[in-house]
Amino acid sequence: MVPEASVLVAVLFVCLGNICRSPTAEGIFRAQVQAAGLSNRIQVDSAGSHAYHEGESPDIRACAAALERGFDLSGQVGRQIKTSDFEYFDYILAMDRENLHFLQKMQPADSHSRVALFLDYAEGREGQSVPDPYFGHSDGFALVIELVESAGKGLLKQIGRNLPKIKT
Ligand code: 4NP
Repeated sequence: MVPEASVLVAVLFVCLGNICRSPTAEGIFRAQVQAAGLSNRIQVDSAGSHAYHEGESPDIRACAAALERGFDLSGQVGRQIKTSDFEYFDYILAMDRENLHFLQKMQPADSHSRVALFLDYAEGREGQSVPDPYFGHSDGFALVIELVESAGKGLLKQIGRNLPKIKT
């Protein structure tokens, strides 16, 4: 993948299936980036650690919960993370510890991607995982949104602080 000329920072969110948590993170963080007027500087994507739902749309429960809060996840298509993502993305953020360990094992030695837990950017939630809502009650999807909005704010603040220092 060739970065667009104006993109300075590329962010990839990763969960297990890429149909619930990471598409929610992609949709919400993209909206936050847009609201900050940084859409042409920050690129946002998501992927699954596994290929179970490759080519699928996000889970309808995730879409409904997001839409209720004004976020549109339609148009996203599930995909599995690939080795070249570790060359392209500046941030590769796991939704939980299992996926963080998966990413740490997968990261090539010469990759400079910052691999971390997404909730490390949520004030007071550092080191925590976004609970997997797939097999649970629909309340789980509202919690995903709450956690993702909080972490997205923190991440945008951190990227925003560094943007002026990054050369085009
Ligand atoms: P996600 O949720 O990782 O947040 O997309 C899941 C989606 C699918 C499965 C598990 C979790 N699954 O077992 O198929």
